[in-house]
Amino acid sequence: MLHLAERTLVTGALGCLGAWTIKALLDDGEDPVGFDLSNEDHRLRLVLDGNERARVTLVQGDVADADALGRALDEHAITHVVHLAALQVPFCRSDPEHCMRVNVLGTITVFEAVKARLDRISGLAYASSTAVYGLHDPSPAPEAGGTAPATLYGVTKLANEGAARVYWQEDGVASIGIRPYVVYGTGRDQGLTSDPTLAMAAAARGEGFEIGYGGTVQYDYAPDVGRAFALAARAVGDGAHVANFPGAAWAMEDMVAAIETAAPEIVGKITWDEERLPFPESLEATLLERLVGPLPQTPLAQGVRRTIEHYRTRAG
Ligand SMILES: NC(=O)c1ccc[n+]([C@@H]2O[C@H](COP(=O)([O-])OP(=O)(O)OC[C@H]3O[C@@H](n4cnc5c(N)ncnc54)[C@H](O)[C@@H]3O)[C@@H](O)[C@H]2O)c1
Repeated sequence: MLHLAERTLVTGALGCLGAWTIKALLDDGEDPVGFDLSNEDHRLRLVLDGNERARVTLVQGDVADADALGRALDEHAITHVVHLAALQVPFCRSDPEHCMRVNVLGTITVFEAVKARLDRISGLAYASSTAVYGLHDPSPAPEAGGTAPATLYGVTKLANEGAARVYWQEDGVASIGIRPYVVYGTGRDQGLTSDPTLAMAAAARGEGFEIGYGGTVQYDYAPDVGRAFALAARAVGDGAHVANFPGAAWAMEDMVAAIETAAPEIVGKITWDEERLPFPESLEATLLERLVGPLPQTPLAQGVRRTIEHYRTRAG
């Protein structure tokens, strides 16, 4: 239930999950504030219609800049924060120092900003990742696990989970961290695992695509994940919780078959590499729904079809 005075600030609002979190907040009747280093709003324009876009206030700023972030929180009387701004795996590989600055220092800056405003800000949700796990974790991976990430990006996410725990213990800053797995859907156009969505965008244009990985992983439909972040920011009570996003595991054959069913004209034109991602195939995920209530879990075939239709409509 939305209270009139509630206003959520979303960091990384111009990214894929940012756009879908903003969409979920708009659907709930909020006029949210986006905070992003970029001013390139192509994902927001893909996801929102013109009226919805007009209700979003965008503030351009660096999440690691405490003054800029604090100003945005105060000028817009923010009551809830969803922190999504981060650099993904390829950017962390190519520029580790910048990755640490955005992913780790940026998250500390968010927690410090919330800590200084606990009288007004009652909810903080942030994005962790399945990348806190490594290939050697069992499958399904226990929700409490994730101690030996295979990438530097995963190390930053594990550090953030630790920071969240300390901010709860020492300062009473409660939070919910959500670990999505492979997010797919409109606007997922960058990062290690964006290829299935890029294949859907290609299929919408009648073109084939070469996906750079294979094997079995969980696929999370971006609008469902955006909804989860919007709910989590309002569900925060006590503690520093970290939850896997509940999803279903699918082999790459299943993902490609779903794309081909939705776009029969490209049958046989999508190929993939057999190389597996360095994560367990599936995850235990019971905590998030206990914390935030029932979540939408769009079946893969439906999510893929909607994404391809979305790209067709928006391109037309
Ligand atoms: N997409 C996935 O499959 C996935 C999976 C697990 C976790 N996550 C996490 O979810 C979050 C959102 O992912 P996404 O797919 O929307 O990412 P994205 O790359 O689409 O968007 C990230 C956004 O952060 C912004 N940003 C980067 N540096 C910034 C800075 N210094 N200050 C402010 N903004 C900055 C970028 O401009 C961009 O708009 C990230 O924290 C990511 O690590 C994503």
